[in-house]
Amino acid sequence: MNSLLINDTNHVWHPLRQAQTEITVTPILKAKGSVLYGENDKEYLDMVSSWWVNLHGHAHPKIAKAIFEQAQILEQVIFADCTHKPAIQLATQLAKLLPEPLTRVFFSDNGSTAVEVALKISYQYWHNQGQGHRKRFISFEGGYHGDTFGAMAAGNAAHFHGPFQEFLFDVDTMPYPATWDGDTETHQKETHALKYLNDHLEKYGDQTASLIIEPLVQGSSGMRMCRPEFLQKMVSMAKSYGILVIFDEIMTGFGRTGSLFACQKAGVTPDLICLSKGLTGGFLPLSVTVAGESIYKAFLGDTFDKAFAHSHSFTANPLGCAAALASLELFEEENTLQKIAQIETWHRRHMDELSKHPNVTKARIMGTIAAFDIRNEESKYALPIVATLKKAFLERGLLIRPLGNVVYLLPPYCTTEEQLAYAYDSIREVLDQI
Ligand SMILES: Cc1ncc(COP(=O)(O)O)c(C=O)c1O
Repeated sequence: MNSLLINDTNHVWHPLRQAQTEITVTPILKAKGSVLYGENDKEYLDMVSSWWVNLHGHAHPKIAKAIFEQAQILEQVIFADCTHKPAIQLATQLAKLLPEPLTRVFFSDNGSTAVEVALKISYQYWHNQGQGHRKRFISFEGGYHGDTFGAMAAGNAAHFHGPFQEFLFDVDTMPYPATWDGDTETHQKETHALKYLNDHLEKYGDQTASLIIEPLVQGSSGMRMCRPEFLQKMVSMAKSYGILVIFDEIMTGFGRTGSLFACQKAGVTPDLICLSKGLTGGFLPLSVTVAGESIYKAFLGDTFDKAFAHSHSFTANPLGCAAALASLELFEEENTLQKIAQIETWHRRHMDELSKHPNVTKARIMGTIAAFDIRNEESKYALPIVATLKKAFLERGLLIRPLGNVVYLLPPYCTTEEQLAYAYDSIREVLDQI
């Protein structure tokens, strides 16, 4: 591996990392369940589900088999004028699982493109109906929707996107009422956010094409959670102006928040939903943007002008679709939602204890996601403490990547009680030292 690592240093450009100052990358040779295996069989518990993509554990044999079998039948075909069984089956299955009216599935291949597609659909939807004046978009403070230009514009992650600001189209940013266990100001924050939105809509509601939000949990800005009640009121306000509501469930989809989709847990249905990450169980890049039939119909007409002229070479890749179908079957076969509920119970038990630690504040849990802020640390993404923490966790055999001053756990659903307990014990040990 050493010569390989030299070549990594010489030839590989890793994402989201200052190569000059950050600790060396960790070589991973194989993985199984919740465990990644490094050199000399060093084990690391994957407490971030490998950037939130892995659901049922690494190298799950059922998904591996589904990909292997599909690869021998049809590995890829142009999706513009052709179709295939795995894509049809997956679209049908997603339409069955998602709440009404989300039945029309547009495929792409990562989270950012799913968001681009949603934004473009929402804009062209109005354009096609002679309402081109609906040019405005709404998003929320702290939102993150990806790193392509449209997704950057919709997001508010200045720490990632600073150099590009002047190229990003205007998006109206609303306050987001982030809350946590024991927060005494929740109602105040929600009232403020709703009033701000209401005032904005009174002025610009009929010029707005769509609103995008990560429902219930904003991932990248630090697992910032909000209450279903806020989402319900906010969505109904937006819909009263006809604004299309986009739920970016790239991270929250497929069980993370306790329900299969966060919109179900929140009791509110968007007009468009973006899914990726866990879609294939974390095996292959694939994403979907799912719309209701009335949106789809706005793209029908006698000429091409009204069609949605957006595509990617690997749209609806059959291997990705086969992996996704196998992953969805696992939810039934392995009682995955029950496992998720179990992880939430374990989180609550451990977090009750951990939240008494003097360095811990704003503890919060939703489904398999548990997070807290480190007291007295500011919330910038690349704080010096992040490198220190990552190193301390790695030394203890844990893959945990704090987001600024936020430490969070987002484990695969096969994680055991013992593995989770080890993660919490190690976090406590590391917190004692800072
Ligand atoms: C909520 C959300 N939307 C979009 C994205 C972008 O997804 P991708 O990294 O696959 O482009 C992410 C990635 O973390 C995300 O968390």
